[in-house]
Amino acid sequence: MDKLIIVGEKKLKGTVSVKGAKNSVLPILAATLLSEEPSTLKNVPCSLRDIQTMMRILKSLGVSIEADSDTIRVTPKGYEGWEAPYKFVSTMRASVCLLGPLLAKQKRARVSLPGGCVIGPRPIDLHLKGIRAIGGEITLAHGYIHAKAKVLHGTHVYLGGSFGSSVLATANVLMAATLAKGTTIIEDASCEPEVVDLAQFLTKMGAKIQGIGSKVLEVEGVRSLHGAEHAIISDRIEAGTYLFAGAITRGDITVRHARTDHLGAVIDKLREAGVQITEEKGGIRVQTPKSLRPIDVTTLPYPGFPTDLQAQATALMSVTDGISIITEKIYPDRFMHVSEMARMGAQIVLEGPSAIVKGVRRLSGAPVMASDLRASAALILAGLVAKGKTEVARIYHLERGYEKMEARLASLGAEIWREKEK
Ligand code: EPZ
Repeated sequence: MDKLIIVGEKKLKGTVSVKGAKNSVLPILAATLLSEEPSTLKNVPCSLRDIQTMMRILKSLGVSIEADSDTIRVTPKGYEGWEAPYKFVSTMRASVCLLGPLLAKQKRARVSLPGGCVIGPRPIDLHLKGIRAIGGEITLAHGYIHAKAKVLHGTHVYLGGSFGSSVLATANVLMAATLAKGTTIIEDASCEPEVVDLAQFLTKMGAKIQGIGSKVLEVEGVRSLHGAEHAIISDRIEAGTYLFAGAITRGDITVRHARTDHLGAVIDKLREAGVQITEEKGGIRVQTPKSLRPIDVTTLPYPGFPTDLQAQATALMSVTDGISIITEKIYPDRFMHVSEMARMGAQIVLEGPSAIVKGVRRLSGAPVMASDLRASAALILAGLVAKGKTEVARIYHLERGYEKMEARLASLGAEIWREKEK
């Protein structure tokens, strides 16, 4: 296993680019299974571990895949597979989004139950509710979801849960509905940009979807779908992570391909903290004064502040004078990064779903342990600003969602390199 070493206290300056959104590619790769015809996806960060995993699953289903550094060509013709086995799903819970397309196309599906992960339980009750509503017969046995359906039929289903809408439950039901007989209405649908991107890809495949980007989706089922070519939207979470990197180091960086229309809540909070944010040609620029103001952040479904940037905001507030309150309304346990930041001198008290952060003048570099994708990124941000050396171990978590992060940060002036764990 590798670790990243960071020598802190370097202001970041310059320009970095972001590529396609991992959380858009994953359901869109699943959606290619709805057609027998080939599809081509562009602007894909193909080296990401999660995308490699999803390509392996598609190959295990009998789909042929060609990929270079940023393009994937999928040829599903004649594939017969209908199972997403535990060995893949246990490493990537997002594989659950294969349920809808496999059931719709193969009339049956066997997908491992995702189980939980460090950010909390990952229930799928909303996925099952939606798939049952559209005519899927579901049984749960031996750690697997077994689904079958001779015919899927249109339905009217409310998909909101106690934590709001569900991104991948919306994706699963939306994909299944494209081939159902009749019209499906999904209420309290997720309207994350990645779900919009999926709906736009499905529309290019010939699906008939109304209400894209709203909380109510209306899908008129069609007999079949054809292949499509699609450029993936830029990754708003990766872009936001670099915005926070510029802010925490009090630097001046431009994130190319970052979209202000996908980052409204984040830009609003950074400005409230005193960060100067400007829209530059094809990107977003952050210029950060020496002292920032404390802010309160609550994570919510889109367009609210994204849970996937909560750890990064917590890192920024840990070195911002004053008291900030970060409340996690999506994954209340998503604070694994807090105990590691405390090893660096951060003063954070957890109170239920909230982290009460008392900013300190200086973090001190220390060996810390990554636990999940976004916590890893937050620990790196903390290392960028800490005095001395920080070692972030188990960075395989990071590689699930951030391509060449150390090279990009180094290009902005960070002193960061990779070493093998002894
Ligand atoms: C997607 O996960 C993202 N993953 C997550 O990003 C992201 O954190 C999450 O949405 C929330 O924005 C991908 O898109 C691959 P949810 P998903 O269903 O769809 C509860 C990252 O770091 N819920 O929107 O699995 C759930 O427990 C990853 O890139 C139910 O109660 O998340 C959570 O509290 C981490 N029942 C809330 O809803 C269900 O059936 C939102 O979860 C499903 C979810």
